[in-house]
Amino acid sequence: MCGIVAYIGHREAYPVILKGLKRLEYRGYDSAGVALLNSGLKVYKKQGKVADLEDTLVGKDLHANIGIGHTRWATHGEPCDRNAHPHTSRNGKLSMIHNGIIENYAQIKSELIKKGYNFTSDTDTEVLLNFIDDIHTNNGGALEEAVRIALKRVVGAYVIVLLDADNPDTLIAARKGSPLVIGIGKGEHFLASDASPIIEYTKEVVYVNDYELAIIKADELILKNLGNEKVSPFITKLDMEMAAIEKGGYDHFMLKEIFEQPNTIFDCLRGRLDATGGTITMSGIQKYADQLTTANRIIMIACGTSWHAGLVAEYIFEEVTRIPVEVEYASEFRYRNPIINKGDVIIAISQSGETADTLVAIETAKEKGAIILGVVNVVGSSIARASHGGAYTHAGPEIGVASTKAFTAQLAVLTMIALKIGYIKGTLTEKRYMHLLNELNDVPEKVATALMQKDKIREIASKYKNASDSLYLGRGYNFPVALEGALKLKEISYIHAEGYPAAEMKHGPIALVDEKLPVFFVATKDSFHEKVLSNMQEIKARKGKVIAVVSEGDDAASALADDTITVPYADELIAPMINVIPMQLLAYYIGVSKGYDVDKPRNLAKSVTVE
Ligand code: F6R
Repeated sequence: MCGIVAYIGHREAYPVILKGLKRLEYRGYDSAGVALLNSGLKVYKKQGKVADLEDTLVGKDLHANIGIGHTRWATHGEPCDRNAHPHTSRNGKLSMIHNGIIENYAQIKSELIKKGYNFTSDTDTEVLLNFIDDIHTNNGGALEEAVRIALKRVVGAYVIVLLDADNPDTLIAARKGSPLVIGIGKGEHFLASDASPIIEYTKEVVYVNDYELAIIKADELILKNLGNEKVSPFITKLDMEMAAIEKGGYDHFMLKEIFEQPNTIFDCLRGRLDATGGTITMSGIQKYADQLTTANRIIMIACGTSWHAGLVAEYIFEEVTRIPVEVEYASEFRYRNPIINKGDVIIAISQSGETADTLVAIETAKEKGAIILGVVNVVGSSIARASHGGAYTHAGPEIGVASTKAFTAQLAVLTMIALKIGYIKGTLTEKRYMHLLNELNDVPEKVATALMQKDKIREIASKYKNASDSLYLGRGYNFPVALEGALKLKEISYIHAEGYPAAEMKHGPIALVDEKLPVFFVATKDSFHEKVLSNMQEIKARKGKVIAVVSEGDDAASALADDTITVPYADELIAPMINVIPMQLLAYYIGVSKGYDVDKPRNLAKSVTVE
């Protein structure tokens, strides 16, 4: 949430920052702003998207070789020009961008007001900036010292970057809890919330750690901890190509990412799954194979779509490993003094690897002695680094705010872990193990076949786009797929959607059913199939509209539905990866047909780095 970009070097800073902000807009798009330093500080900010800011800056003098930029997802204070970043200190010398939340800002603010400070915004950021300014004014000395003193007092999460009119050759940045990447070029440095604004210029990056402060000049990067001791920067080489962060001819990133899934799942399985040889190789899991096979309990921690992946994994793990699994919302888990026993293993699932609730939840579990395995997409992210082991999902950058390819890659990784552990434990027979490996191997091709239904799905979308409410139903492995379908629809079409286990519908939601209500069933062939068909009958009997995802050739299911979308048959344990494809496309086409910006749905942001 909130994207930050900064530059210092020999290039024009503004174009670098502007392009970077556009790449980070998925992190928030309530307002945008830049501050540039060239014979004085110039700050420009505007409510709305980065393009709105760009429009207002046409014709302005934007020349500078040092600058900072921000795209905001509002926390403290409504989205408006006044609350947009960068903020400027009382004396007009300092400008600062911030991603995170300063929890004790109210106390600090009231102290500063007593000292005569006035505030022009409602933000916690302006408070922290003036707190730094106050310390700097009183103590004199280097700005970095004032930043260090201020941050020792601060409760909360932050990445901050400061521009100082009195030191036009230096940027100061610091991090706790929110992400900061520094790209190292020749005589230049790039700062950003993730690597996407940086890869165009350099592949050498440093991921700044919590409680570290960076003093950055064009040709020098010094990292220190809050105790003022120097820390050696650890340089990582980025494994990412430019094409991965461009739309590549698609209308939206979301559509591109949906269509990438045959490849992303293939990439996720590649080098790990050998269906012929009967092996699964995952070094970050292998190290913890003993703890997993002897685990008394596995706890999956995640939020949103990643939580849905955890729910599917619960069914799979319990079936093939016979280890009890609990799936927790990270935001609930972290605050309720959870019981963690010896022999419990935590699996944290996250696309961004930066979700604040998930990160704090795993820190909580770690303190209680749990082993943490991360299933994460973004390499080098905070959750990946905070985990003892785990496996990357290798889905590539996911830029559409609604998660799609990350979900199927999470399922692929979680399925491989479950099969591996089930096989080692002997809770999975050799025959079933080999069958499931082959089924997993076939997923990319079956997903490609499911994607071929896109025209049919677009037609169905136009038929139901004016619904105000909808139900999504499924049973067993397909219940979390129904939840995910409902979440996707809500997010990008703003149609109210509820996901339910199909049988549970009778215990309340069936009251919603009338001739206007579309009810989306995930009704592929599995052990519950006959029961799901009965549930479809129950909806039909009440004149609800049934739209069903069914297995190819399943005439009985098709006959019950008003509209059907067929997908290739897969073993029920593997099927969610295929069945979710029509759910994603339906939501996409409904959102587009209603004229919404599906890549940037209202009120949302990717990478929720505030709790
Ligand atoms: C839904 C969506 C969110 C995320 C959730 C967790 O489309 O994108 O619900 O799944 O915010 O994010 P990660 O996986 O980055 O921890």
